[in-house]
Amino acid sequence: MTLLRVDASIQGDRSASSALADLVLDDFVAARPEVPVVRRHLGQDPLPAHAWQAAVTGGFIPESDRTETQHEALELAGRLADELRSAKSALFALPLYNFGVSQHVKTWIDLSLAGAAPGTRLLEGKPVVLVTTRGGAYGPGTPREGWDHSTDYLRRILVDIWGADLTVVEREFTLVGVNPALDEFTETAALMRKNAEEAAAQAGAALADRHAALLHPERG
Ligand SMILES: Cc1cc2nc3c(=O)[nH]c(=O)nc-3n(C[C@H](O)[C@H](O)[C@H](O)COP(=O)(O)O)c2cc1C
Repeated sequence: MTLLRVDASIQGDRSASSALADLVLDDFVAARPEVPVVRRHLGQDPLPAHAWQAAVTGGFIPESDRTETQHEALELAGRLADELRSAKSALFALPLYNFGVSQHVKTWIDLSLAGAAPGTRLLEGKPVVLVTTRGGAYGPGTPREGWDHSTDYLRRILVDIWGADLTVVEREFTLVGVNPALDEFTETAALMRKNAEEAAAQAGAALADRHAALLHPERG
């Protein structure tokens, strides 16, 4: 009956994505204080990158032939898949780094895929909020339109592969005020931040409602 929260910032207390996810969680917890929150932080406690290869190759051979490394990797992969499967709802704070998802997020997804039978819909019908932040801006007409290779990839995995009922909360231009080259976008960035924070609060309240509706469908 848990809410699963997964963060991936590598920037510790300065994380914009975690701050935005905190707003989602605040409204969720205010409405559903009884729901246990399970947390995983991929940026602070990265999963071992070598485990994916060991889990995949271990899965191709009989259990008795597996090496210790393959056993451990498959156990980890199974645990990650179970974490997704056993959550009733989820909140993911996964920022854009180097125009894509971080290696930490990719490892988490690859291992979770290896930990379940092919095609398993680990988040089928579950309400999921994806919070994502980007230092620049990638909207239509911007010089780097199409360079965000993270958000669409995450939609493919969360929605099309795992079946999530997804809401995306995005904040762009988080590097305005940090990188002087972006100073001309100060007003735009402030508006984007305000809109993102409002969207986060709304998403948290909606997530709480949808979590409750899954637990108590009779209350409609
Ligand atoms: C190593 C690194 C790579 C980054 N790469 C990009 C990038 O490719 N495009 C971009 O718009 N911002 C990039 N950024 C800025 C982040 O997207 C921005 O700081 C965002 O807020 C990160 O989320 P966080 O604050 O939760 O860590 C990068 C930041 C770091 C530290």
